[in-house]
Amino acid sequence: MFRIAVLVSGNGTNLQAIADAVKTQENCEIYAVITDNPQAYALKRAEKEKIKTYILDKKIYRGQLSDEILKILKNKVDLIILAGYLSILKGQIIDEFKNRIINIHPSLIPSFCGKGMYGLNVHKAVIEYGVKVTGCTVHIVDGGTDTGPVIIQKTVNVEQNMTPEKLQEKVLEFEHQSLTEAIKLFAENKIEIFGRKVIIKEKEQ
Ligand code: GRF
Repeated sequence: MFRIAVLVSGNGTNLQAIADAVKTQENCEIYAVITDNPQAYALKRAEKEKIKTYILDKKIYRGQLSDEILKILKNKVDLIILAGYLSILKGQIIDEFKNRIINIHPSLIPSFCGKGMYGLNVHKAVIEYGVKVTGCTVHIVDGGTDTGPVIIQKTVNVEQNMTPEKLQEKVLEFEHQSLTEAIKLFAENKIEIFGRKVIIKEKEQ
């Protein structure tokens, strides 16, 4: 059984997409949902899906947050997914789960990413800059902010007069697809990582 943990801080639409997808994958289950935000709507989604939840309020745990998460997940899961998780994972958990922590970011990394680039800020910056194509990226978490090897990217055309909210809605659809695709590939052991390069075995010619 391929066990995953999902870390959340907000609405949880990516969590919902994962929970829906896992139902059709017999070899994969969600071990737990962990949040740093007691008000996260994602908690309600997890409770509805009868998934075990842990609330580690970042205002209480502060610098101990990552180590606390490691205590809960060490030797319990195969993959950790950051799905709108806004605290930075750091310290021993990054080594313990090397190449087994993934994040979804709402732009085509390395554009529009890094400190302060999350949620609507990303889409505002995209529209402000005037790029014609944006998208989303699933990448390995390596202790930096949005710096790990890229696993999957999907593109979205930025239409004229599109609002940041409309763009966010469009990109979110592709985030859900990208994240569930990436989890399936990990569960089927089809991902190989060589330095910054991610090889998806099923696509090898
Ligand atoms: C998404 O835009 C994701 O890319 C970013 O945070 C947002 C989370 O959305 N990391 P949700 O909580 O999964 O709905």
